[in-house]
Amino acid sequence: MCPPAAAVIAVLTACAACAAGKSQQLNYRPIIGVLAQENLPGDQLAPAPSYIAASYVKYLEGAGARVVPIRINRTEEEYKKIFFSINGLLLPGGDVDIQTSQFTRAAKFFYELALKANNNGDFFPIWGTCQGFQQLTVFTANKNLLTLTNTKSVALPLTFTPAANSSRLFQSFPKDLMQSLSEENITANFHSWSLSIQNFTRNSKLKKFYKVLSTNNDGKREFISTMEAKHYPFYAVQWHPEKTPFEWINKPGMVHTTSAVAASFYTARFFISEAMKSQHHFSDLVEEERALIYNYSPVYKGVHAIFVQNYYFD
Ligand SMILES: *[C@@H]1O[C@H](CO)[C@@H](O)[C@H](O)[C@H]1NC(C)=O
Ligand SMILES: *[C@@H]1O[C@H](CO)[C@@H](O)[C@H](O)[C@H]1NC(C)=O
Ligand SMILES: *[C@@H]1O[C@H](CO)[C@@H](O)[C@H](O)[C@H]1NC(C)=O
Ligand SMILES: *[C@@H]1O[C@H](CO)[C@@H](O)[C@H](O)[C@H]1NC(C)=O
Repeated sequence: MCPPAAAVIAVLTACAACAAGKSQQLNYRPIIGVLAQENLPGDQLAPAPSYIAASYVKYLEGAGARVVPIRINRTEEEYKKIFFSINGLLLPGGDVDIQTSQFTRAAKFFYELALKANNNGDFFPIWGTCQGFQQLTVFTANKNLLTLTNTKSVALPLTFTPAANSSRLFQSFPKDLMQSLSEENITANFHSWSLSIQNFTRNSKLKKFYKVLSTNNDGKREFISTMEAKHYPFYAVQWHPEKTPFEWINKPGMVHTTSAVAASFYTARFFISEAMKSQHHFSDLVEEERALIYNYSPVYKGVHAIFVQNYYFD
């Protein structure tokens, strides 16, 4: 016998509720911490010793988040307070020593807090771009396994692994975008160092921790271009999704096609959807307001600069 329609609806509603109840309510006011770093060596006119490229801020804002800058050279106490106030961390690209810099010191402190938090059921995502990708591999492997590649200024298509389609990151991408990413040269590569498949495969810590989602090749060596952690909401791209819509230096590797812009947006959208699962918050709105990036003004660096605008911090 068929149950009456009302009963079916009741059952469906109950199941939907239980699924929703399992995870907490989403946080639609997510705040992402972006870590500053020591200035580029060539940045002589910089008004202060550390910076955040404004493209990372716009990239996150464009996907529905607000940004809090995390300054280097701060106390662990201060970092801890920020950690429990924000809903995710972005480690940007750049050019610092990923073993000895103040950027690394701060990143490591947050990385370890994030491991512990996630282990305790306190969801906290991390996104690493380029240097951020490399930094995450150094933390996980507890050593630097990078190798030089010829990838300084080139746009490449992604070579997806069989794991890509079912990955958390790429699962939410439209099919036509996945096709563009796999066929068109639309991911901006601006790195000299890479994690080769060889070194990844030989290192049991990395292999255990990450799932490789895409690779690339500089003609000599195959390296990892996208990965996600198996048991943590940690994501790493060797390429630069934030450059596509927000940086305008005219050089090889910079692409502004419709599909390239879409690829940028979908990465940010995914990361912010992860941040929405974090319930961290500032102790009050005054503290929140004081921490936000709106308290700082970006400096225009010029149309030929690698970053069109930078935020600077003492
Ligand atoms: C960080 O501290 C070191 C020394 O402790 C100093 O040399 C450096 O200029 C500081 N950097 C920033 C951005 O404050
Ligand atoms: C592997 O890592 C070492 C550093 O530990 C590096 O010197 C070497 O070039 C890397 N090899 C490859 C193939 O990536
Ligand atoms: C596009 O990417 C391929 C690698 O898949 C590379 O061989 C080729 O040089 C790239 N083309 C351009 C115009 O960058
Ligand atoms: C992912 O799925 C699409 C079809 O939806 C398929 O064409 C493609 O080959 C798959 N990619 C990989 C790497 O398995």
